[in-house]
Amino acid sequence: MEALRTENTLLRLTDIRKSYKKSGGDEHLVLDGVNLAIAEGEILALLGRSGSGKSTLLRIISGLTQQAAGEVLYCGKPVNGPVEGMAMVFQTFALFPWLTVLENVELGLEARRVPQEERRRRALAAIDLIGLDGFESAYPKELSGGMRQRVGFARALVVEPTLLLMDEAFSALDVLTAETLRTDLIELWLERRIPTRGILLVSHNIEEAVLLADRIVILGSNPGRVIAEMTVPLPQPRDREASAFRQIVDEVYALMTRRPRGVKVEAVPLSHRLPDAHVNRLAGLLEALAAEPYNGKADLPELAYQMGFSVDQLFPLLEALDILAFAHIEGGDAELTASGKSYVDADILRRKEIFAGHLIRHVSLAAHIRKVLDERPGNRAREDRFLRELEDFFSEDEAERVLQVAIEWGRYAELFAYEEGAGVLSLENPVGFTKEEEKAGN
Ligand SMILES: Nc1ncnc2c1ncn2[C@@H]1O[C@H](COP(=O)(O)OP(=O)(O)OP(=O)(O)O)[C@@H](O)[C@H]1O
Ligand SMILES: [Mg+2]
Repeated sequence: MEALRTENTLLRLTDIRKSYKKSGGDEHLVLDGVNLAIAEGEILALLGRSGSGKSTLLRIISGLTQQAAGEVLYCGKPVNGPVEGMAMVFQTFALFPWLTVLENVELGLEARRVPQEERRRRALAAIDLIGLDGFESAYPKELSGGMRQRVGFARALVVEPTLLLMDEAFSALDVLTAETLRTDLIELWLERRIPTRGILLVSHNIEEAVLLADRIVILGSNPGRVIAEMTVPLPQPRDREASAFRQIVDEVYALMTRRPRGVKVEAVPLSHRLPDAHVNRLAGLLEALAAEPYNGKADLPELAYQMGFSVDQLFPLLEALDILAFAHIEGGDAELTASGKSYVDADILRRKEIFAGHLIRHVSLAAHIRKVLDERPGNRAREDRFLRELEDFFSEDEAERVLQVAIEWGRYAELFAYEEGAGVLSLENPVGFTKEEEKAGN
């Protein structure tokens, strides 16, 4: 990270660490060693996959949650609770339905003991600023999603925050509404019509980050820590179609999909959070990759766009293809492997066989389930047995989710069967595998 002169640093995080208690009493480490600084005049975007701890980090910064270790300095002073000078806009608008727009906005000032008259004056000014003029006495339910989020912004801006935090502030809005609101915000910022001196925005949306931010920081998962950072040296307003813009989007995709260096895994361990990826979506993605215009290799942003997927929908699928060695995800591209191509070319039965081979070879949990069932005299085992093993690594809910993914993949591949109501795994119908075939992986 470049050295930032202290007097120009609005916010500095040093070695932030945070864990939550799991239901069993164990700790789930969410953030570890997070270092981050925001300079005055800077818009910083924080990108990361779902669950990487972005919202947790924002809550720590704003003093709503306490970190386990590390320091948050805001304008050089430690943060130990809610701070004047910071305001946050949330994804869900968090408006009070029984209050009017004006009252919702005024609420931002009430906690700060601003006198009634001044409250009203400033609330009206914020409402005006964000384009809600004429809606002062409307109730949230009378407003569209975009207008409601404007109220969310007005409530944050009314306190004249020095640092504005945004947690997925645009992601609940439709595409056009989100774009209009982004443009309005960036105009207020560039024209200095708000006193805000720094913005930290959390997003899933790579294009949004490249559109708004001066610098992008990528948070890796498990535990969350900064894994990459880049500046966006494009002047505002930015053109999504410009080749320099597209190139930066590509680079961010590449950073977000890259494997940790040097850990090219043959099989992902039991402790791996299998991504939520339904088999028929995987098959659909493989077919799309194989077909025109990609012919086996696709640029990820383009693929997401063409398939109408958000990043959050696409990443789990890509990760699954990568784990299963049906595609290589590298450098912002997805490229089918030879077996990915064979899968696409095969008929339904052969596809299942190929999938089964890859599942055994690349997903330890699937191989483990199959082995346990093979060794049991009745070839049956209760799912609880596997859940308990997974709970060594995950929370109860997460263990259940991961097992469900393995079960869905295993059932499709006919590697094992699952009796839904009884919660029993068995080898009732699945195809027999010889040890040789398992080794060969197909
Ligand atoms: N109050 C809590 N108690 C226990 N675990 C929590 C709590 N809040 C968050 N977590 C866990 O911490 C991890 C990070 O959550 P967080 O909401 O910060 O992620 P995120 O990056 O904001 O995800 P998303 O992109 O889905 O919003 C997740 O595994 C989540 O389950
Ligand atoms: Mg979040």
